[in-house]
Formats: sequence, C-alpha cells, structure tokens
Amino acid sequence: MDIETRPSATETAQCIAGMSEKVAANPLDSDFIAEQTRIFRNAWVPVCHESELPAPYDFRTASIGNENIIICRAPDGKVNALLNVCPHRGMLIERRPQGSFLEGQASGNPKRITCMFHAWQFDMRGNCVYVAREKEGYQERFSKDDAGLRRIRCSVKYGGFVWVNMNDQPVSMLEEWAGPAFGHVEQQLNSVPLEVVHYHKEYVEHGYMTEALEFLSAAKHGSVFDFGHCAITANDDTGSQNVSDEFPKPNSGGTSKIHLFPGYVFDITGPVLHVKVVTPVDPNLTMIEHRGLVPQGENKTDRDTRIKYYNLNHGPFRISAMNSTEGSQS
Ligand code: FES
Repeated sequence: MDIETRPSATETAQCIAGMSEKVAANPLDSDFIAEQTRIFRNAWVPVCHESELPAPYDFRTASIGNENIIICRAPDGKVNALLNVCPHRGMLIERRPQGSFLEGQASGNPKRITCMFHAWQFDMRGNCVYVAREKEGYQERFSKDDAGLRRIRCSVKYGGFVWVNMNDQPVSMLEEWAGPAFGHVEQQLNSVPLEVVHYHKEYVEHGYMTEALEFLSAAKHGSVFDFGHCAITANDDTGSQNVSDEFPKPNSGGTSKIHLFPGYVFDITGPVLHVKVVTPVDPNLTMIEHRGLVPQGENKTDRDTRIKYYNLNHGPFRISAMNSTEGSQS
C-alpha cells in the first residue's frame, strides 16, 4: 500500500471504535442462546435430504443450536454427521455450504476432510488419517488414532431425510420421537425415492415464538402426539382421513400436515412434499428453510405439474397466496 493512502492511526482507531459500537449495539442475548441450545441440541433435526448428497464424498454443512456440523456420504454410501470443529485447536473446518470432498482443494487432499490450519486430515467417518509432523512433533506422546471428528447421532428416515440429534443420549430414539406423528403418512413417504427439486431460505422478522404459536393453532385442528407434535389429515375435499400408501399422484388434492416440535412441518398437500425447517437466529429473527420434494425418475409431464404446483403454493413468491389476498381485497 502506498504510504499516502495508508489510514492514519486516528482513522484506524475510529474504524475500530465504529466496529466495536456495532458489535455492542447487538450483544448476544445469553438467555436466547441458552434457550436455543436447550431446545435444539436435544431434539431430532431434519438437517437435509439424502438426495442433496447423492454421491460418495458429497457433503453439506449446517448449524444446530449454534454448533457447526458436516453431513457427508462415505464411500460405502452411508450418511454420517460429524462436528465441523477440528480436534487439534478447535477451528471451524469446512466453510462451504455444500460440495464434494472427492476432488482435492487448494488446502486439502482428495477424499479427505482437511483442516486448513495445520492440515490434519479426516475420512468421511471422521477418523483422523493424517497429522502433520506426527512423529517429529509429538514423538510417542500422541497418535492420530487418538484424534478424530466428533461423530453425531444420525439417521436417514421418513422419506429419506437426514435426522441428527446433538445429544449422545437423546430423550428418545427417532422412531419413538416422531414415529406416531408420521404414522399416517410414513408408507406414503417411503413408497418411492424422493428428491429435492426446490430449496430456498427466508428470514422472517419475528421470533421463534410466533412460529411456535402457529404450531399451537395447528394442534387445535389435528391429532396431538407426545413431544408436542401434531398431524392434520384430510384426504380430499370430503375431509376423509384415509391416506393412500402411495405418494400423491400429480392431480392429488389430499392434505396431510405433520407439525413436529420444535419447528418442522412436513406438508403433503397436493402432489408435492413441502418441508419447512425453522432455525431461530435471534429473539426477533427466524430463518426458515423450504424444500420441495417429488418422486425421482418420473416423466417430464408429471414432474412439471408437481413443480408448477409447488412454485404457485410454496415457492418464494407464493403466487396463489398473492392472488387470494388480492381477491379478498377487491
Ligand atoms: S486447528 Fe485444525 S489442524 Fe490445527
């Protein structure tokens, strides 16, 4: 940098002062973090769908209760969940939201999860496979066999979703926790392999409480289950509750909604599965992830019909909702 264009000490001090004011203006709410941690680190979370990691070495990163995790597919096809924190000095390892470890990176070997700080390497099960200067640096005091990424309880279920629980000893296993609520629709969800055809994220300017209240109002109209879940089912316009064992056809008009505590909705209304996952960001901001899923490998006409329905009803613009609002205003 040219000496004339370099900021003066006063300017630098002002800049740092400005930054610290900004940080101080939004202090972390310790009660919020404690509550978020208590709830989300003890619940099963559907972090992603298995079709989002179709090939060995594919991965996605996520955060649960302020802990960073990696979901990755091992060479044998198994999906694993690992803490995205290096056991060496606690650094965040993978910063990309998704990708593949198959090809080498600037700071990492192919087929390895590599920490960019001191190049420790891990396989897709989290085993440590390389420690730089292991013998020269540590002699006999340490071996890579004693290190490894922390593995997290993980299960693929209910239409191929990847469920993770940060608690090693959860209050209940996934089947006991969500099974009764999914009872009506489990066969439907598992009848055909599904894939994600739409994903978007939105930030809504209200807290988690508002989302929770939506849950409570849903519970008034449906069956309530243990752990705070509820399910609403109406097979067609007649309100019949007989749900087919097959995934809805492209012209389906049935409705099945499963609301799971603390903030997930599995909605099989019409011909698509729409899944909403809520993550509180701060007391006044909530992130909602939306995924649209349809059967794999169907013909283009059916696929287009389902996608059109999804975009109209659940896409970022929700055109059908806009039309009904305009209609009611006129
Ligand atoms: S912090 Fe990861 S290798 Fe050192």
